[in-house]
Amino acid sequence: MSLSVLSVASEAVPLVKTGGLADVVGALPAALAPHGVELTTLLPGYPAVMGTLKRGKVLHSYDSLLGQPARLVAGKLGGEPLIVLDAPAFFTREGSPYADPAGKDWNDNWRRFAALGRAAADLAGGLVSARKFDLVHAHDWQAAMALAYLRFAPIKGSTPLPSVMTIHNMAFQGYYGREIFKELGLPKSAWSITGVEYHKGVGMLKAGMEAASVITTVSPTYAQEIREAEFGMGLEGLVVHRGDRVRGIVNGIDPAEWNPENDSHLAATYSVRTLAKRAANKRKLEAEFGLEPGDGPLFVVISRLTWQKGMDVLLEVLDHLVGIGGRLALLGSGDAAMEAEFRAAAARHPGRIGVRIGYDEDLAHRMQGGGDAILVPSRFEPCGLTQLYGLAYGCVPVVARTGGLADTVIDANLAAREAGAATGVQFSGIDYSTLASAISRTVALYHQPEVWKAIQQSGMKADFSWKNSGKAYAELYRELVSAQ
Ligand code: ADP
Ligand code: GLC
Repeated sequence: MSLSVLSVASEAVPLVKTGGLADVVGALPAALAPHGVELTTLLPGYPAVMGTLKRGKVLHSYDSLLGQPARLVAGKLGGEPLIVLDAPAFFTREGSPYADPAGKDWNDNWRRFAALGRAAADLAGGLVSARKFDLVHAHDWQAAMALAYLRFAPIKGSTPLPSVMTIHNMAFQGYYGREIFKELGLPKSAWSITGVEYHKGVGMLKAGMEAASVITTVSPTYAQEIREAEFGMGLEGLVVHRGDRVRGIVNGIDPAEWNPENDSHLAATYSVRTLAKRAANKRKLEAEFGLEPGDGPLFVVISRLTWQKGMDVLLEVLDHLVGIGGRLALLGSGDAAMEAEFRAAAARHPGRIGVRIGYDEDLAHRMQGGGDAILVPSRFEPCGLTQLYGLAYGCVPVVARTGGLADTVIDANLAAREAGAATGVQFSGIDYSTLASAISRTVALYHQPEVWKAIQQSGMKADFSWKNSGKAYAELYRELVSAQ
C-alpha cells in the first residue's frame, strides 16, 4: 500500500536552514520514497523559498488566513512534492525564519506559525481535491498547531487523519499569552488542559503533543530523558502520561550532502581506505584559520554558540586544550557575549585557536574533512548531526553522554577498543573537569596513531544513513494508518 503524508515544518534543506531540523526535514522525502511513502513538504514562503518557485501552480487562495491574504503554491523539494504557504505579510521579511536582522524574535511569530498550521489542517482535510493525504507529520512547535486545528477545527466534511508530532528540541515550545487564543479561530473547547491551554497561556508544542496519535523525538535516549524535569522542561508530565505513544527514532544523514568520497567542498576527497589523503585538507584548514602546524590534534567546533551546546564550558577549558598541545578551529554564531569571548580566546592564543563567527555551510564541510576531532559538549542534545558528520568524515567525535550523542558514539574505552567498536570519546556530565579530561584523553589517543586510525575507521564504517530510520518512520506511518 502506498501512503501519502503531509510533512509540515518551518525549514528544510536546501531552501532554508538554521539548524539540524532543516537537514532532517529536507532528507525525509528521499528517505521515505523507497518505502512506498510519498512525503509532501509544506513550508512557509520565505524569500529564499519563493525564489525557487518558478511559475509554481497556485493550489488555493485565501482572502484571509489568520488575518492576511495567502496562497498555497506547488513546487518541488529535491524532486519530491512541496507546497509553499505564500503569505507575504507573514514571510516576506529580512532576517531569519524566526527573528529580525538584529536577532530579535518577530512578535507575531504565533500568528505566522498558526497560519502555517491552519493551512496544513486545511490541506489534510482535502482543501485541494487533487492532493489527498493519509497522515500528517508535524515538526516542532512551529508546525504543531496543524494538529490542534485538525483536532478541534477540521474543515467541514473531512475525515480525521492520524498524526505524528516530532520534537526536535524540547527547549523551544511556542508558548504565548492567553490573549492570542481568541485570534486562533479555535472553538472554546480547545481551551482546556488537554487542548492548547498551558499554564494559563497557549502552548503550541504542548497542543501538538496532546493531539498527536504518536509523539516521536529524534533519538531513543532523548525520548527517555524528556520524561524527567531536567530535559522535559515542563512537559515531562505529558510525556510520561502519553506512555508508549512517545517513541525515539534517531536521525540519519544525507549521503548526497555528506560523503567524503565525493564532497566537492574538499581539497582532497577520501575514503576509509585512503585516510592519509585527509592531510591535505587539514593543512588547508590550518591555513584558512591562521593556525600553526603542530603535533597535537586539531579540534573543530561547528555549532550554535549557546548554553545548550555547552559553549560556556568550552570557553573555560580552552587554555587547557592549548596547554596540552591541542589546537582549535571554531565556526559558530549565537550568543553575542560568547562570540566576543571566543574572539578574545583566539587573540590570546594566536596560531593555536582560530575563530570564525558566522554561518558557512561550505566551511562546515571543510572542517569535517580536515579536522582531527569534533567537540560536541552539549548539556542536552535531542539527536545532534555534527557528530554524525564527524563519524562519516573520520573527524573523531568527542561528545557529552546525552540524548542522540549517547546513542550514536561508542566511547573508546579499553573494552570497546579491543573489540574494534570504538568510534569516539564520551564523557558524563558537563563541567570543567569532565570536558578537560575528555580532551586530555583525546590527545593521548591521538598520539597512538594505530589506535586513532582504528577509531576513525570504525566511525566511517558505521551506518548512519537514513536506511534504518526511513524504514522506522514508514512502519510507524503504516501502523497508524491501519489503526485508523
Ligand atoms: P542544532 O540543530 O541543535 O543546531 P544539529 O547538530 O542537529 O544541532 O545540527 C546543526 C546543523 O547546523 C549541522 O548541519 C551543522 O553542520 C550546522 N551548523 C551549525 N552551526 C553552523 C555554522 N555556524 N555554519 C555552518 N553550519 C552550521
Ligand atoms: C534540533 C536538536 C538537534 C537535532 C535537530 C534535528 O535542532 O537540537 O539535536 O539533531 O533538531 O533533529
